[in-house]
Amino acid sequence: MMWFVVQMLEWAWWSPRRMDRVLRAQGLRGTQYRFLKGDLKEEQRLKGEAWSRPVPMDRAHDIFPRVAPLLHRVMKDHGKVSFTWFGPYPRITIGDPELVREVLSNKFGHFEKTKLVRLARLLVGGLATLDGEQWAKHRRIMNPAFHAEKLKRMLPSFSASCSDLISRWENSASLSVGEIELDIWSELQSLSGDVISRAAFGVTSQEGSRIFLLQTEQAERLIQSFRTNYIPGFSLLPTKNNRRMKAINTEIEQMLRGIIEKRQQSMKNGVIHNDDLLGLLLEANTDYSDADGKSSKGMTMEDVIGECKLFYFAGMETTAVLLTWTIVVLSMHPEWQDRAREEVLQVFGQNKPDLNGINRLKIVAMVFNEVLRLYPPVVLINRRTYKEIELGGVTYPPGVMLALNIMSIHRDPAIWGDDSDEFNPVRFAEGVTKACSDPGAFFPFSWGPRNCIGQNFALLEAKVAISMILQRFTFELSPSYVHAPCTVLTLHPQHDVPLRLRRL
Ligand code: HEM
Repeated sequence: MMWFVVQMLEWAWWSPRRMDRVLRAQGLRGTQYRFLKGDLKEEQRLKGEAWSRPVPMDRAHDIFPRVAPLLHRVMKDHGKVSFTWFGPYPRITIGDPELVREVLSNKFGHFEKTKLVRLARLLVGGLATLDGEQWAKHRRIMNPAFHAEKLKRMLPSFSASCSDLISRWENSASLSVGEIELDIWSELQSLSGDVISRAAFGVTSQEGSRIFLLQTEQAERLIQSFRTNYIPGFSLLPTKNNRRMKAINTEIEQMLRGIIEKRQQSMKNGVIHNDDLLGLLLEANTDYSDADGKSSKGMTMEDVIGECKLFYFAGMETTAVLLTWTIVVLSMHPEWQDRAREEVLQVFGQNKPDLNGINRLKIVAMVFNEVLRLYPPVVLINRRTYKEIELGGVTYPPGVMLALNIMSIHRDPAIWGDDSDEFNPVRFAEGVTKACSDPGAFFPFSWGPRNCIGQNFALLEAKVAISMILQRFTFELSPSYVHAPCTVLTLHPQHDVPLRLRRL
């Protein structure tokens, strides 16, 4: 009992106090540590307050204070590199692009992914959660599946999903004198769920939509669990939330196992599936050889299931978020909606988007970059130190969390100018490197060896979808729309996004 009490005190009091002294002694500033909970309760309170009000429409894109009120306050009070407490762990917020690059390049392997709490592994597995040798092996196996040449083969699946969506809207519009109102957030979530089902797994949207529903519930439950599950052992308790999360995971894994086994069987029968991600993954996996050219056993069934869960979550959430904010912003700035439509009609007319045309879309690319800058689907990238490491003149002990703050860097006036909170796609007219004073300050897909493997997949899907929507409809936000971005792992709208669409 004594031993247990001493261990608890070391974890929840002495160790955080020591870390606090080490950080402050080196000139770093941050919040005062509060026993066990750190800033979690305060963060909850600030979010509750901020999320009870929409963003004022005269500064509609100034969303950082609402999305991450604690980090916004701490950076204002204590500087671009400052710290808060995630339970008993210090979390350094980094708002300096040079330091971000140093962490993400990870030249000496001193930084690693934050160890996911047990329950988070029920939602995402695979590449995003691995480190070291294991990560390198999985990345090497998966890379070929995301090459531009392979993505080209998925274009028909992207178009098919978008065509289904557009036909549904056209049918509704023809029943209601050309104009319809719908919740674009749920429409685009089911679109990207459908795209990932077809393009990644070659399954029908019906099979896919069950996984999609379960993954959505799992993400919401995971967030609920953050309030308690940083305490060791809590995730093992049979609480209602924990039991439901395990049940969801079992169901998702069973469905994925079924899809994979069916595919392996048909591959054994000589059928070639090289036009979706699962087929390419299994193909690359059978041919796996390491950096020295030695072949070895590829991934296990459990590994492949982990990667598939990740595809579902990473592929669906983030792209739906990007498309939703793009449509919201193009509704707020109709002059850019007109310019984007003009370009799409000039390039494709009424034809289906093809790869050649997609690569020629300049205005659309500028708009997406500006939306990714102001509304990055992933707001923070988390890492931790596992050895003592010097960074920007401060020596960090092992066990420190680092939050690389995409959102604050993307809107820092010192880098982007006085109009940093405004929507101005023109800043990207000469490409990403000339858009601001520091070319490394734009990293919505991360940077370095662990950058997003799916970024071309996401951008291709988003460009096909927006082109097909612009070809057929004009749109505006319904008067009942409330502008309320918030984080539910990624940057969600807090409420529905009612949109009025009119056929062209
Ligand atoms: C707009 C869409 C997307 C955005 C903004 C985005 C953003 C990101 C970011 C910031 C990371 C780095 C996370 C970290 O290091 O902690 C990441 C990693 C990753 N993303 Fe994406 N992503 C998008 C779409 C996709 C899609 C469509 C897929 C797959 C189909 C995907 C698969 C992955 C994977 C597997 C990783 C882990 C890579 C590694 O650790 O080596 N992402 N993404």
